[in-house]
Amino acid sequence: MAPATVDAFMAPATPLSADNSDVNATPHASRSSSVSSPPYQAVDYSQKIDVNPRKGTRDFPPEDMRLRNWLFQNFREVSQLFGFEEVDYPILESEALYIRKGGEEIRDQIYCFEDRGNRRVALRPELTPSLARLVMQKGQSLSYPIKWYAIGQCWRYENMTRGRRREHYQWNMDIIGVPDVTGEAELISSIVTFFKRIGITAKDVGIKISSRKVLQEVMSLYSVPETSFTKACIIIDKMGKITIEELKKELKSIELSNDAIENLLQVLSIKSFTELEEKLGGTGEAINELKQLFSLAEKFGYSEWIQFDASVVRGLAYYTGIVFEGFDREGKLRAVCGGGRYDRLFSTFGGDDLPACGFGFGDAVIIELLKERRLLPEVPLEIENIVCSLDPDLKGAAARVASVLRGKGRCVDLVLENKPLKWVFKRAARINARRLILVGSAEWEKGMVVVKILSSGEQYQVNVDELE
Ligand code: HAM
Repeated sequence: MAPATVDAFMAPATPLSADNSDVNATPHASRSSSVSSPPYQAVDYSQKIDVNPRKGTRDFPPEDMRLRNWLFQNFREVSQLFGFEEVDYPILESEALYIRKGGEEIRDQIYCFEDRGNRRVALRPELTPSLARLVMQKGQSLSYPIKWYAIGQCWRYENMTRGRRREHYQWNMDIIGVPDVTGEAELISSIVTFFKRIGITAKDVGIKISSRKVLQEVMSLYSVPETSFTKACIIIDKMGKITIEELKKELKSIELSNDAIENLLQVLSIKSFTELEEKLGGTGEAINELKQLFSLAEKFGYSEWIQFDASVVRGLAYYTGIVFEGFDREGKLRAVCGGGRYDRLFSTFGGDDLPACGFGFGDAVIIELLKERRLLPEVPLEIENIVCSLDPDLKGAAARVASVLRGKGRCVDLVLENKPLKWVFKRAARINARRLILVGSAEWEKGMVVVKILSSGEQYQVNVDELE
């Protein structure tokens, strides 16, 4: 039985052929460079095509597709356990949907281009703007709160590291219309449910939680304007990826005073809630919401999975309140998932604001983590029945047998060619068939077939219409 190869999830970051090498190896540095394409090169059709997928993208051969389906099935089942409805959006969206102020990394990673009608379009780098678009389009016809989930492919021109690719699938769960932290608590509960379901424990991963309101409170002490606040969050999200000196320099470039920067960095290093309370006082909105969230976590029963960490701010501009990030406790992998509250995204699209929170959970990092912990499941091919005629003249009879079984909801691999029995047994083993159904002339004359139970070798005859 062939285990899933997980090749699709682990495909090497290195190009597999010169033709597939990355001519634009650095992520696009600016909006304009992100769309500049190399001059058109005529294709030489006499050459054999490069059979490798583009760098950072994956094929999903059957064994990898089975693993992907297993993962998505778990995403779906957990979402449904929490009463969420599935939605989807086009992969191709208007580029304008992703143009946000604040210097987000994601902005420079967009696959965007002009279509044949001269419209600026983009392959979606995330699902949240599409969700906002659809909610705005549906308007009052929706009944609130909305609880939606989606599993969709996203495209980002990323520098590839372990678990980070140029396309990935993201599971999203979002709640629109719930202003208080019961929303975030419910979302985190679904993430924990998912982890437990696939065998990941609180020893393997944790979820760091903070609130952007913590930083907002610090910055308001220094009268930092709202526009700089978002920019500051995006800069702070780079903490750990760039040096402290670089971080300070970037914060200075958005006109934060030295005092503000020092105080900010001090607050960001806080890892305990009590310490935060001491620093900010026990009454502000940030403290209250975090307190409520930690108290709800106790009721839900997932306290051991979560921890306060002021350094979590997240790199997307639209978050306004609680933010959270799933992390591998061994520290080998990048964020497993992330999300938060985004109460003001709708107005940036010209709509009325709606309270909203949600998360995104990628397919690649979690597979890496399962592999690390030796928890990757084997998802074997399983086709219950294999049907084969013993005589070329009985091909039609075998087709009838297959149809009878399929009509009763049984899966059948019908042997379409004339093959020796040895081959049929080999095939039966490969597909993990439970039964081999042989159509031979002597039995068929009586409307019967031979059924062989492959695990025990037991064999009997049965009338074709009585096959179950
Ligand atoms: P994000 O943090 O950019 O958030 O992405 C969410 C998750 O998607 C990450 O934690 C990671 O698992 C996965 N991911 C992101 N980029 C890549 C990549 N290049 N390769 C592999 N996996 C990746 C968002 O996208 C928000 N829209 C999530 C959200 C939904 N917030 C509210 N609702």
